[in-house]
Amino acid sequence: MPPHHQQQPFRWQTVLELSLISPVIYLILGAPGFPTALLPTFTSTSTSPDNTENESPIPVARTSLDTLVSPSPDLVCPPHNYTVHIFATSPLVIYIDNFVSDSEAAHLTELSQNSWQASTIFTSTTESTNPSVRKSDKALLPRDPTVQCLEARALGFQGWPRETFIEQLWTQRYNVSGHYAHHYDWATSSKSARRVSSFMVYLGDECEGGGTNFPRLDVPAGGGGWCEFIECGDAGGGSNGVLTEGVTFKPRKGAAVFWMNFDESGRGYRETIHAGLPVTKGVKVGLNIWSWFQAGHVID
Ligand SMILES: *[C@@H]1O[C@H](CO)[C@@H](O)[C@H](O)[C@H]1NC(C)=O
Ligand SMILES: *[C@@H]1O[C@H](CO)[C@@H](O)[C@H](O)[C@H]1NC(C)=O
Repeated sequence: MPPHHQQQPFRWQTVLELSLISPVIYLILGAPGFPTALLPTFTSTSTSPDNTENESPIPVARTSLDTLVSPSPDLVCPPHNYTVHIFATSPLVIYIDNFVSDSEAAHLTELSQNSWQASTIFTSTTESTNPSVRKSDKALLPRDPTVQCLEARALGFQGWPRETFIEQLWTQRYNVSGHYAHHYDWATSSKSARRVSSFMVYLGDECEGGGTNFPRLDVPAGGGGWCEFIECGDAGGGSNGVLTEGVTFKPRKGAAVFWMNFDESGRGYRETIHAGLPVTKGVKVGLNIWSWFQAGHVID
């Protein structure tokens, strides 16, 4: 039986601890009542455990409402031909072969030709270039019917989720040594606004290296036909003898890797951390399609 007087200091300690962790609980709950515009600062906090693991800062994604688009309802689109293979269910990761046709890939690359500019990264407060984290060029795609049909295809693939919009599409070009260090696509993780899903689409695969690596995903046990789409072998897809963990999807023209960034409760999946491995030969052209949930948002 512990002496009664010892309980008093213990209780004060609990109150102190509770006051220290309650802001954390508040953030985990999605910072209810907090202006969304100010939340990106907290996003960097949520990825900080990984900063210490990897020793280089993990870039933070952001978006603003004026980059959200919705394809025109009058759009008439060609039928798609993609085939899907579920890679994992938690988090949901789906490999989509033939997500864009050869002619669409050529068209999107052509649309980018005159507008390549250096890719940037976001830290908690600033946008900047940092070739040690991300080295590539990006181009904003004008929203012609092909681009809008792709936006519509991406929304339809996901079952037209409510209050969910496509972030304006950018292509990415990776020359030799072009890469993107491990990062999450999470942007703000509030209950009312977040980047729910990502598609990594390969538009040009005339390269060596340049795979998309997910160090925390495992190669499916059965194997089956996966070696057509992922690196199978001792190096796990590492280029130049660099060992990589987890799974590396090969750049494969027209194909896409799709994944959900958050679980049902709104927690970011740590398994979605990924990198664009360095291109060792040739040029890779990629396209990100991000879907953004914005509660109550309407686009006229
Ligand atoms: C569908 O497949 C046909 C035949 O391979 C091809 O000509 C067409 O461009 C494809 N369409 C799309 C949207 O991928
Ligand atoms: C990639 O190559 C193109 C054409 O050679 C060049 O203009 C561009 O600056 C290069 N981009 C990077 C990030 O090195």
